[in-house]
Amino acid sequence: MNQENLVKIRFTLNNQQVETEVLPELTVLEMLRRNFRLTAAKEGCGKGECGACTVILNGQPINSCLKLAASLNPGDEIQTLEGLEKDELMQIVQEAFVSEGAVQCGFCIPGMVLSSYHLLKNVEKPDAHAIKQALSGNICRCTGYMKIEAAVKKASEDRSKARK
Ligand code: FES
Ligand code: FES
Repeated sequence: MNQENLVKIRFTLNNQQVETEVLPELTVLEMLRRNFRLTAAKEGCGKGECGACTVILNGQPINSCLKLAASLNPGDEIQTLEGLEKDELMQIVQEAFVSEGAVQCGFCIPGMVLSSYHLLKNVEKPDAHAIKQALSGNICRCTGYMKIEAAVKKASEDRSKARK
């Protein structure tokens, strides 16, 4: 690696300020996996079409394969699946994926789960259309869409029950 080309960046990762060095062409996805060993986000297509690389940047799901790590600013906040392990809503979503049998090979699941989490964080009771819409950027090569959508619906219902 050519050390002279390295760019120093600072940002918040899973609620902690972090600092690292990256080559200018390194994507956020590659940086998370190589520099921080956070491997939940996966590289599927590498060109913004499959959603396997989904992470949450400043509250919005993004395709981390399309964003250069060097473009991150100190005010940017990235949340990965690993950082949400103890989050109550995330646990409800993950349990619903398991109980609905929504996981096949698992490759798309971290992205699916993050997109589902983001939807439920922002919409109290999403209808079928809203669920489809929220998952429209995530492709499942095992084509388990019906069970995945059922899992999101179940997570929404389970959350309502947990609040009663
Ligand atoms: S790997 Fe990023 S969208 Fe497919
Ligand atoms: S479970 Fe295999 S790609 Fe979705």
